Amino acid sequence: MLMRTTVIASAALALMATMAQAHSWADCVDWRFKDKSKPSYRASDGECFAWARQYPVKSGVAFAGLDSYSPARHYQQEPKDFTACSDRVHGREPGADETRQNPISKAYGGKWGAMAVAKAGDTQCVRWPAKNHAVKNEKEKFVFINMPKTLLTKDPNQSQFSKANIAKIPFKNCNDISGDTDRTPCGGCFKIPEELETGTYVVQWRWELNDNEFYTSCWDIAVTGASKPEVGDNSTTVAPAPLGGTTSVFAELAEN
Ligand SMILES: *[C@@H]1O[C@H](CO)[C@@H](O)[C@H](O)[C@H]1NC(C)=O
Ligand SMILES: *[C@@H]1O[C@H](CO)[C@@H](O)[C@H](O)[C@H]1NC(C)=O
Repeated sequence: MLMRTTVIASAALALMATMAQAHSWADCVDWRFKDKSKPSYRASDGECFAWARQYPVKSGVAFAGLDSYSPARHYQQEPKDFTACSDRVHGREPGADETRQNPISKAYGGKWGAMAVAKAGDTQCVRWPAKNHAVKNEKEKFVFINMPKTLLTKDPNQSQFSKANIAKIPFKNCNDISGDTDRTPCGGCFKIPEELETGTYVVQWRWELNDNEFYTSCWDIAVTGASKPEVGDNSTTVAPAPLGGTTSVFAELAEN
């Protein structure tokens, strides 16, 4: 009887430990669906092309497991300072170092995941694990995608990030995995602002689990700006030929 009680008690403790760590993070920051007409975040339905800063892609840890890895990927902000991107020092749950590196590219490649690359106006999709929080009895508190539209020399603070919100995605946008509410994959997409000039921009994923309880992930995107056509490409800026002129663009083309 005593043994049985002990077994039950330790099972309950183990479950509590799992639940206590069950907080989410951006697992993939450029998830591409195999079939765009059937968007899905299951491993079999897409592929990841980019990760957040210093993401240990070679850890061998399965999807949704990086919260029991050291340093953990989930980072809970401390409301006293709201450090925007984990520095491994601040926060209720410090998380991995996701601060801007010098150079920015130092956070990518080798043992880390690849950096995101995109064009202004592109749509990018982000994937995250449900970590038991996409269940019916939990209120939807949303994921905010924050992306300042200017090129910065250092990371923004949280109020600057929050002012630069570009998307609000339901956290509970998931592909149900029957019987496993922890490793259920979830995600959503956002559009990179069209007016950006070429350069590297910072993006923040910020999930509000409860009132004033936030978790964040940070990454960089090398954006090719729509406003800067490639050298020699003046196709959209050709001046109209004067009306009635004998040397119109079309006449010249015809002669050549
Ligand atoms: C965030 O940065 C802005 C611009 O530098 C500054 O005005 C503001 O006081 C900062 N906010 C906090 C909470 O540190
Ligand atoms: C393209 O247009 C710009 C601005 O009008 C001009 O400065 C540049 O010389 C043009 N380039 C070519 C290859 O025609």
